[in-house]
Amino acid sequence: MSPSKKVDPRLLSPLLLVHINQLLTLCSNKPGPRRAAALKELGVIEDAAVLCIGGKIVSAGKTKDALSDPWLKKNRSKVTEIDCAGKVVLPGFVDSHTHPAFISPRLVDFEKRIAGATYEEIAEAGGGIRSSVEAVRRAEKKHLAEKVLSGLQEMSAHGTTTVEAKSGYGLSLESEIKSLEAIRDAANHWPGTVVPTLLGAHVVPKEFKKNPQKYVDVICQQMIPQAAKRKLAKFVDVFCDKGAFTAEDTERIFAAATKNGLAVRVHVCQLSETVLWPLLRFHPASFDHMDHVNDDDIPQLAKRDTVATLVPGANYFLGLKNYPPARRLIDAGVPVALATDYNPGSSPTPAMPFVLSLACTHMKMSPEEAIAAATMNGAWSVGLQDRKGSIEPGKDADLAIFDAKDYREIPYWFGVNRCEVTVLNGEKIGRGNSPAKI
Ligand code: NIG
Ligand code: FE
Repeated sequence: MSPSKKVDPRLLSPLLLVHINQLLTLCSNKPGPRRAAALKELGVIEDAAVLCIGGKIVSAGKTKDALSDPWLKKNRSKVTEIDCAGKVVLPGFVDSHTHPAFISPRLVDFEKRIAGATYEEIAEAGGGIRSSVEAVRRAEKKHLAEKVLSGLQEMSAHGTTTVEAKSGYGLSLESEIKSLEAIRDAANHWPGTVVPTLLGAHVVPKEFKKNPQKYVDVICQQMIPQAAKRKLAKFVDVFCDKGAFTAEDTERIFAAATKNGLAVRVHVCQLSETVLWPLLRFHPASFDHMDHVNDDDIPQLAKRDTVATLVPGANYFLGLKNYPPARRLIDAGVPVALATDYNPGSSPTPAMPFVLSLACTHMKMSPEEAIAAATMNGAWSVGLQDRKGSIEPGKDADLAIFDAKDYREIPYWFGVNRCEVTVLNGEKIGRGNSPAKI
């Protein structure tokens, strides 16, 4: 494995963005994740400037104030300057739900669905998540890491700077750990920030079909302790739904995660309803999907900081008529985030702007709500709210520059990438991918 290609942010030249048509700072004086009316507050500054030094944001405000700063006056020649006239600048997207550790697209599932089969029917017939497992088990770690890296590069080309990345297509101790190592190696070659998650509990692999509890034992007694000891994961996730794991399994797995010092999040209410309140005692960072959330759980969620992470790319790609109930959740005061759910089965998109477009057109979120859900609330969903999600002094220099005069154009255009430049921990990348080589 070649050594890390990450540039030390202290060696980067200072970066100044000037004359930004609209700077969305996402600053707010309200504590906690954004909910209800606060989800609309983008903190817009016109003709704005942002100065980044050493991978951190040093100032964000009006261009004229930045240019009269004594330090900048003296050091302007040492600063890389980007003229952002006619552009929108916002915090880099925090994609808080992705599954990048896979080898191949699932084209057979795709065709079967076009011919009328459902996601569940395909899974029962041997397709679905299980059909991605063989290739991951056989893959060399380096090859898997290159696949993860190419996913990360496609995400950053669309303005994403922080990615929560799950394992989940290995489904054995060895292959889940290999997947987490591949995520770590890819993260070391990408300038953005990766939050790794162990999803050994994605489905029960076929060799444990007759005794699923034995597989839950492997997760609790082997995968979680190893991932925790080797610091390969920050979160443990479970697919808690019909055809995958029960709420009781989920509680067992969450208890093991907690015992080993890992935080938890869960795929829940995607295909069927699960009562959520028993899971709240584990303080999950996020409940993901939430299509079939029970009305009685909503007031409980409105009182907590657990984020509801909605992933409408899956509804789009599975051809579903209904989308996650964003309005019901937001209007009740539940903090909502948006993520791609990048994966080969239900949502093969790396593009957060497309997810924002779906959220506006199909879930009736306003452009302001969609942007806050994809930045600040994504940061809350991965526990990085102190470093990510808004543009303010002291935070990481994660920015997306869009070829748009008005921020509403970000969810308005779809099927086209209008992200011109992405800044990840102070490092600037332009359009187009460099090949994913490790
Ligand atoms: O979030 N629902 C479980 N996991 C993914 C799908 C994974 C796959 O089909 O490969 C999801 O939609
Ligand atoms: Fe998922």
